[in-house]
Amino acid sequence: MRLVDGAVEMIDQTRLPAEEATLRCETPQEVVEAIRRLAIRGAPAIGIAGAMGVALAAARAAAAAGDEAAFRARVAADAAALRAARPTAVNLAWAVDAQTALLDGHPGPPAAAAAALADAARRIHDDEVERCRRIGEHARALLTRGARIMTHCNAGALATGGYGTALGVVRAAHAADPSVRVVVPETRPLLQGSRLTAWELGREGIAHTLITDSMAAATMAAGAVSHLVVGADRIAANGDVANKIGTYGLALLAREHGIPVIVAAPTTTVDPATPTGAGIPIEERAADEVRGIALHGRPAAPADARVANPAFDVTPARLVSAIVTELGVHRPPYERSLHAAAPRGAMGR
Ligand code: MRU
Repeated sequence: MRLVDGAVEMIDQTRLPAEEATLRCETPQEVVEAIRRLAIRGAPAIGIAGAMGVALAAARAAAAAGDEAAFRARVAADAAALRAARPTAVNLAWAVDAQTALLDGHPGPPAAAAAALADAARRIHDDEVERCRRIGEHARALLTRGARIMTHCNAGALATGGYGTALGVVRAAHAADPSVRVVVPETRPLLQGSRLTAWELGREGIAHTLITDSMAAATMAAGAVSHLVVGADRIAANGDVANKIGTYGLALLAREHGIPVIVAAPTTTVDPATPTGAGIPIEERAADEVRGIALHGRPAAPADARVANPAFDVTPARLVSAIVTELGVHRPPYERSLHAAAPRGAMGR
């Protein structure tokens, strides 16, 4: 993902793994649309896209006719639309709010304010990638030699602007121990596991096995999983974790099979303002994402089947063995460990 003159450019994740195509968003509205339809997705990545979207909005508003008040009003309206593009990952709201606060505190003329927002967006991008690298380093201590890591969805470079959270842990582990293997559930309905995680791991030369979501229990029972390592979209103050739908089920299975559950996420994913997972908004997506799957080129569901399609679920903190942020490894009780470990201002706030 990058902010260039007049656009935000990104890999269009909806076209992977068949095609590595660049999507060029020339307006903030196009960035909103890219986030909504998951051309760019993953909590840190949509935060970065949001920050770049605000910078793009400011550059366009600075170039348009009008006074400083009109400039600020335009950027504020675009920032509000970007912030609302998806509700669950707190990184998006965090990044847009950081940009809005920067603009509010920037007294200069529009062109100077727009330049400051562009710099800040690039800094947010660099910082997120650096956080991922640190998460990978800290998590290595939790893994054993020859680890067989099950993950879920895609928490890789694509989801974070580079390196990855859960897949960053895999990358760091693999660099030290090439015998690491990964089990990749396909992650219905939108198949981020098979389309994106298997693609990333293949490019990195990391051994992996793709399974359907319904194979997870049998795979664990067969002893093929030593650790469950997942990312997060939002972590409540008590350590409850919202992540891709299916994560809760995998965590329950892991508990039954004595497998540690490790959540890898930057502090920009921690939301101290939300006390428990019950307060995390869960995005409900279109029914056609579930009905739309085809088998042998034919629809695999009746066109009028009633559908539920929550994009995320909440794994209670009691099922989570450790949360790894760039600050280190946090253990229960998370109310204390997550917050005591965070210097003021570092918890994504
Ligand atoms: O709907 P998505 O594909 O944006 O969901 C993404 C996830 O659930 C990821 O696991 C999460 O954002 C962490 S990405 C480092």
